[in-house]
Amino acid sequence: MNTVDQVKTHLEFYRKHQIAPVCYDLKDMQAHMERRSSLYLKLGLPPIAFRSAKVLEVAAGLGQNSLYLAHTLPAKLVLLEPNPSALSHIHAVYEMFKLVHTLPEVVASKLEDYSSEEKFDIVLCENWLGNSRHELSLLQKLSNMVAPQGALVLTTISPIGLVPNLLRRFLAVYLAPLNDGFERRTEVLAQEFRPHLDTLKSKTRNAIDWVQDNMINPAYFGIGLTISKVIEELGDRFEAIGSSPSFAEDWRWFKALHGPFRQFNQHFLSQYWSKAHNFLDYRESISVRDPHLNKILEEKAIQLLHAIEAHEEAHIHHCNVPDCVDQVFIALQEFLDCAPSHLQSAIRSLIEVKENMEFAIKNHRLQKMINFPALFGRETVYLSLFSSRKN
Ligand SMILES: C[S@@+](CC[C@H](N)C(=O)[O-])C[C@H]1O[C@@H](n2cnc3c(N)ncnc32)[C@H](O)[C@@H]1O
Repeated sequence: MNTVDQVKTHLEFYRKHQIAPVCYDLKDMQAHMERRSSLYLKLGLPPIAFRSAKVLEVAAGLGQNSLYLAHTLPAKLVLLEPNPSALSHIHAVYEMFKLVHTLPEVVASKLEDYSSEEKFDIVLCENWLGNSRHELSLLQKLSNMVAPQGALVLTTISPIGLVPNLLRRFLAVYLAPLNDGFERRTEVLAQEFRPHLDTLKSKTRNAIDWVQDNMINPAYFGIGLTISKVIEELGDRFEAIGSSPSFAEDWRWFKALHGPFRQFNQHFLSQYWSKAHNFLDYRESISVRDPHLNKILEEKAIQLLHAIEAHEEAHIHHCNVPDCVDQVFIALQEFLDCAPSHLQSAIRSLIEVKENMEFAIKNHRLQKMINFPALFGRETVYLSLFSSRKN
């Protein structure tokens, strides 16, 4: 029997396996609250921005992130979540929450099926929307729910930052073959990658959830919604105001920022392109680079993503695997050729994993690696946008 997942979306995958693999460690609630507060401050949203506001969180998962929002005492908090396995947790999480808070209205619905008469001052959607046509239309729907002068918070992906995990995903097909089934693959891959994840001192997710959502989830290849795509889709209806990690410096005199000279989005994008290589290795300090070279580097990362996706499809359909392997090696080499030479640790790691990929294809296991296990990108980039509509 072919046990390979044929589902395509996050929701189909979660429903099929009755999972919600996004559990944070909440043993230290104060640390959780401080992390969320740090995130929103970086996005230009202090607690007072939420207080007495109408707030909507779409794809709320287990509801753990929303606890901070609830604690800021919004006038109204709506949590939208369609996954039954997640919904039961939301109720449990709020029953255990001891801090003063606004009780959320939990709506068991997909964004596609949700409508609301009223607009929300702040709309948030983390770690869900990708770059398919359908999801881009949902981005439009989300943006239309934001009240004039309100804020939209999204997560985007840096394709360059995604490269280390894309390579883990390539290896995963050999370390735990697709026919092994969901439970077995989860177990093997968690064991394999736990030492990698343990190098991340500030992580909050466990290895099992991480493996299921990143190494097995078939929707993983569609998560690449980039900052430039969001800005292109939303046009001048929204202005990018902040991100985490925060990369955009603005040394322009505020007195010059009016009318056609505000150019928030253009400025934000120019900062993004001059710093996009920094997403490759979260341990590195920041530098600037020719934006044109970074556009090429991001393009190479996207080509690598497509090659690794095609390689996994080839395994699912048992056809054309050797050609697809060749394409992955070509794409990785082209990415390496375009990477800035000062990112030495990342480059050493990518060369090491490239050699190990050949070994894994033949032996279905890895040789000991010294550099690659600690290489992770800054792949998830939170983005806050301000609705420029006046009414
Ligand atoms: C990776 S999880 C992220 C959960 C949470 N936002 C977080 O960051 O922890 C993706 C979430 O999107 C939800 N989701 C998937 N399809 C959806 C849809 N069509 N409408 C609303 N939410 C959806 C899933 O059920 C899941 O909770």
